[in-house]
Amino acid sequence: MPRSVFSPRLLAGCLAAALCVQPGAGAAQEPETLLARDFFLNVPDMGDVPVDEFMETMGMFAAALGLNCADCHTFESSSSWEAYADETDIKETSRRMIRMVRAINEENFGGQQFVSCWTCHRGDLRPRVVPNLEIQYSAPIDDPNEVFFAPDPDAPPASDIFDEYIAAIGGAGAVAALDGFEADAVYNGFDTGFEDAEAELYATRPDRLAMTVHARPGDSVRVYDGERGWIAATDKPMPLMTLTGDTLGGARLDAVRLFPDALQAERNFWQIGYTVLNDAEVRVLRGISPGQAPVNLYFDDDGLMVRMLRFVDTPVGRVPTQIDFSDYREVAGVRIPFQWTSTWTNGQASVRLTDVRPTADVDPSRFDTPPPSPPARANVN
Ligand code: HEC
Ligand code: HEC
Repeated sequence: MPRSVFSPRLLAGCLAAALCVQPGAGAAQEPETLLARDFFLNVPDMGDVPVDEFMETMGMFAAALGLNCADCHTFESSSSWEAYADETDIKETSRRMIRMVRAINEENFGGQQFVSCWTCHRGDLRPRVVPNLEIQYSAPIDDPNEVFFAPDPDAPPASDIFDEYIAAIGGAGAVAALDGFEADAVYNGFDTGFEDAEAELYATRPDRLAMTVHARPGDSVRVYDGERGWIAATDKPMPLMTLTGDTLGGARLDAVRLFPDALQAERNFWQIGYTVLNDAEVRVLRGISPGQAPVNLYFDDDGLMVRMLRFVDTPVGRVPTQIDFSDYREVAGVRIPFQWTSTWTNGQASVRLTDVRPTADVDPSRFDTPPPSPPARANVN
C-alpha cells in the first residue's frame, strides 16, 4: 500500500519542504532510508514505513491493546528477531484493523489521522461497547499529557516563558557561554533489565549529542550529529538503526534542549496551555511546525522545564515519548537537570548524571556514525 495515501505526516512533509526550511528535524528522508520491507520478512501491510517508525507502530499496538510483543507474536520471538515474522491469528486481525483504521480516516476525516488504534481500544483487547456508569459518575482523571490549548488573549507570549526559563537556569549570558560538555552518568532502563549501567554523554552547542551506555550485552550508542541520527543498540532488531522523520526530530530535540536558548526556534508557532503535573499547576508550550509532529514543553512555578512530550506520527497513529526532568544543578553557571526519565510505549529509562565537565572541545568523532551493535537477543517483552 502506498504510504502517502494515508500518512498525513508525509503529505505535510512535502508541504514543509516547499514552504519552510527547518534545519535538521523533519527534513526530507535521506535516500539511504531503510524501509521495513527491505529489512523485515513478513510486512505486507506496513512495508513502506521506515524501520525506526515501524518499531514505533509496534509500540502503538502494545499500548493501545494492552499487550506485550509476544502476545501478538510468538513465544519464540522473545529469543529471536526472525521469529517475529511468524504468522499468528492476532497479527492477521491486526492487519485487518490497520486497513479499517486507514479507511475510516480516509472516508471521514480527509485522510487525517483522527482515529488510531487507541481511539477504540484504550488499552483493552476488546473495545467497550456499553457506556461505563462508573466512569460517568466519578471525578474525571486528569492526564497532564492531554492539554487543551484554547486561544487565550491574556496569555503571555511564548517568548516570555522561554525567557523565564533561561533566567531560571542562570541567565542568557551563562547559557550562551556553555559550548558543550562531557558527562558520566548512570543509565537504568528496560534494555538493561532495569539494572544500573555506566554511561557517557557528549554534547556540543547547538545541537549535537551522543550517549553511550555500557549495557551488559554490549554497548548501546545513540548519536545525533546536528543533522543525522542513529541508534546502535543490542536491543534493536538491526545493528545500526538510522533515524528518520519524527524519530530523527525527537533526537534533535533531545540535543537542543541541552542548549535551551535555541529551543524556541525549533518550532514556528507556540501555543500556551495549563495543566496540573505532580499536584502543581504547570504552563505548557506546544510547538508546531508544518510537516513535523508537535512538541509540548512543561514549565513549573520556578520557570524550570519539567517535562518534554514529543511524538512520532505513524500510519497507525501518533505515538508519544515523555521525558521528565528533575534535580537541576549548576554547571558553569547554568542549571541543568541531572536526572531525567524517558517513558515511551515500549519502555522506560532513566539517566542520572554523576559528573559533568563543561568543555568547548568535545572530540568531534564522538558524533560519527556509531559502529553497528549486533542484536544480542530479542526484545525481552
Ligand atoms: C496487536 C498486535 C501486535 C503487537 C502487540 C506487536 N506486534 Fe509486531 N507485528 C504485528 C503485525 C500485524 C505485524 C506485521 C505488519 C505488516 O503486515 O506490515 C508485525 C510485525 C513485526 C515485526 C516484523 C517481523 C518480520 O520480520 O516480518 C517486528 C520486528 C515486530 N512486529 C516487533 C514487535 C515488537 C518488538 C513488539 C512489542 C513492542 C510488537 N511487535 C508488538 C502485530 C503486533
Ligand atoms: C473503530 C474502532 C476500532 C479501532 C480504531 C481499532 N479497533 Fe481493533 N477492534 C475493534 C473491535 C470492535 C474489535 C472486536 C472486539 C470483540 O471481538 O469483542 C477489535 C478487535 C481487535 C483485535 C482482536 C482482539 C481479540 O479478541 O483477539 C485486535 C488484535 C485489534 N482489534 C487490533 C487493532 C489494531 C492493531 C488497531 C489499530 C491499527 C485497531 N485494532 C483499531 C475496534 C477497533
